[in-house]
Amino acid sequence: MKKIIVLSDIHLGPSGTVKFGLDTAVRFARALDDINKLYGDADLCVFAGDIADEANPAAYQLFEDMRTRLSMPQYVLLGNHDDRQVYLDNCKAPMLDVDGFVQGAHDLGDTRIVMLDSSEPGHVEGILCPKRLSWLSEQLSAAKAKNQQVVLIIHHNPQKLFMPVDRYSLAEPDMLLSVLKESGARIPLIMAGHCHITTAGSWGGFPVVTISGNQHSVAPFLPGMTGQQACYEGPAQFGIIMCEEENCTVHFHSYINRNVELPAAMFPWKKDQWQKVPDFLQ
Ligand SMILES: [Fe+2]
Ligand SMILES: [Fe+2]
Repeated sequence: MKKIIVLSDIHLGPSGTVKFGLDTAVRFARALDDINKLYGDADLCVFAGDIADEANPAAYQLFEDMRTRLSMPQYVLLGNHDDRQVYLDNCKAPMLDVDGFVQGAHDLGDTRIVMLDSSEPGHVEGILCPKRLSWLSEQLSAAKAKNQQVVLIIHHNPQKLFMPVDRYSLAEPDMLLSVLKESGARIPLIMAGHCHITTAGSWGGFPVVTISGNQHSVAPFLPGMTGQQACYEGPAQFGIIMCEEENCTVHFHSYINRNVELPAAMFPWKKDQWQKVPDFLQ
């Protein structure tokens, strides 16, 4: 049995930063407390992107300092709020492939964890270039040859959530789907962050899960809804993936579970999202 912790959307600023009334460093410290108290025996911990909120060097330094409290192996992915070069200049022992992307794989017995870099400078949406897709294809082939199942972790969700975030989730998801299907690998789980909401479902036949992260969470806002999408203080949440042979189960641990609704004025772009395109997408 293997245990993998996945945290996403840490959104750290320099120490003491408060945004939307939330101090993400205080929240992240609570996550680390709970991991050490309850899941200290985990085999792996993956940070699935949006590590910093505005890619400040001080935010990455704070992150690197804080995560030393964990003793299990750790990997860091980047998201749309991150800047690859600023991260690389301010981190220790990054996960890097031969082409300079922040991605890699880690074998845990019967399971290969593949962590795919969907971040692209200047883009809010996730991008997978031919180099990244070909790297992924190699990882999947190697897993198949060893009869391993694959858990794929990526920042940007490839599946449609039928929410406004679909406008800036993974671009051209069909390219990823083709690589996954052509590989013939067993892929019992694709996990993403980015959308700040817990969802589960199936995409092209592959099971998909998203986790709410360390910053605010959002309520479902489905086609046809008008008015303001609610944003909440919690849950702040990480996922725990349990793998054994051909089994894979996801648990959700909420380390902050006081789900106070945040003032609508903090999130003006979340009003009438199906009727208006927000400024950051124009
Ligand atoms: Fe995020
Ligand atoms: Fe994101």
